Amino acid sequence: MNISSNHKALLMGLLGGSIVSLLIWSKYKKQLKEMMRLKKYYLPFEPVNQHKKRVVEGCGVLSDMKEKDHDSENEGIFISDKEHLKRKLAHMRKEGLQELQILSDYDQTITAFGCPNEQEISTFGVIAKSKRVSQKYLDDMTALYQHYSPYEKDSTIDKETLVKYVTEWYSKTAECFRNEHMTKELLLEAIHDSGVALRYNFKQFVNALQHINLPFYVISGGVSPIIMSCLESVVCTKKFSNFFLFSQEGYFDEKGVLVDLQMNVNTCSKHEKVNSKEFNLRKNTLIFGDLHHDIYMKNELDGENVISILFLRDKMKDQIPSLKEHWDIILTGNGSFITHQALINYIAGAEYENLKMEGEAKEIYTKSSQYSELRDILSN
Ligand SMILES: *[C@@H]1O[C@H](CO)[C@@H](O)[C@H](O)[C@H]1NC(C)=O
Repeated sequence: MNISSNHKALLMGLLGGSIVSLLIWSKYKKQLKEMMRLKKYYLPFEPVNQHKKRVVEGCGVLSDMKEKDHDSENEGIFISDKEHLKRKLAHMRKEGLQELQILSDYDQTITAFGCPNEQEISTFGVIAKSKRVSQKYLDDMTALYQHYSPYEKDSTIDKETLVKYVTEWYSKTAECFRNEHMTKELLLEAIHDSGVALRYNFKQFVNALQHINLPFYVISGGVSPIIMSCLESVVCTKKFSNFFLFSQEGYFDEKGVLVDLQMNVNTCSKHEKVNSKEFNLRKNTLIFGDLHHDIYMKNELDGENVISILFLRDKMKDQIPSLKEHWDIILTGNGSFITHQALINYIAGAEYENLKMEGEAKEIYTKSSQYSELRDILSN
């Protein structure tokens, strides 16, 4: 008797509840749907790695990591094929940020170009410039470079032979590092002393990515502790689970001495790192680089829809006609990340306020004449 009356009450309750829910749903359908849609945009994206995220160790954080000023006189923006770019952008915008990912080179893509008459500051260069590394390290590294780099530039060499030489070069480089016993402190000081600077607006850009956990893959032939420290100085990488770095990986012992350098990335393997076996790849990709071969980062991606942005050294401007076939946007001068942020903003659509450019960068984007063509493309 008791049980059945309990059942009755339960059934009545369920029925009543369902009716009430239905009534609420039909009355506030529009608002509820809107809320669910917004939630999708405002919550960070899920991790894209099927496995545990590898943690790459930095050598500390700089309180005064340099960011370049805007190169207002020289920055030029060349759009290769306006209509084609418009079509690709419209497609990306339709699929939204949840289908977007970014692949980027590091040296001279995330960092600025060097001074015209000086050697450019790569991550290896940062270490070479340090006054605290030994003469032997410098001599050995120079000798290796002089011996092996001609092979890399030799276009007549077959891939197998090249891989053999590069492997040799890399294992000897790793040995130089192991013998040098560099400390984290030395490396951090080296970054500071080198004067290396991140590009204008990179900080704002990467923080916008972190905020929504947009997949951001950095692929570099550089040294991981240097790259990680520069990045950690401007963005919290620990809160950014969809940030991945592929590079030559430095390992420290418990005293903070660099005891090994694993050479994970070379000219031949650079393009295999971001693959569908390990990552939930997205359909649409932005590619950032500073040298033509960076375009090959797209080779392992299935998604056809790629927009590529190249930072071009002024002395290579004569190559624009041939580069235009592969790169959608070419930035000359000492370019900034304003264009990149304007693009993700456009792809995000109107909803996502947190990605919007702020402050000086916004002023430059909305007022400078060199952005007028881009503004025009992104205004619809
Ligand atoms: C690019 O910017 C960096 C950092 O401000 C500066 O040191 C370098 O001289 C600039 N290079 C060119 C070619 O303008």
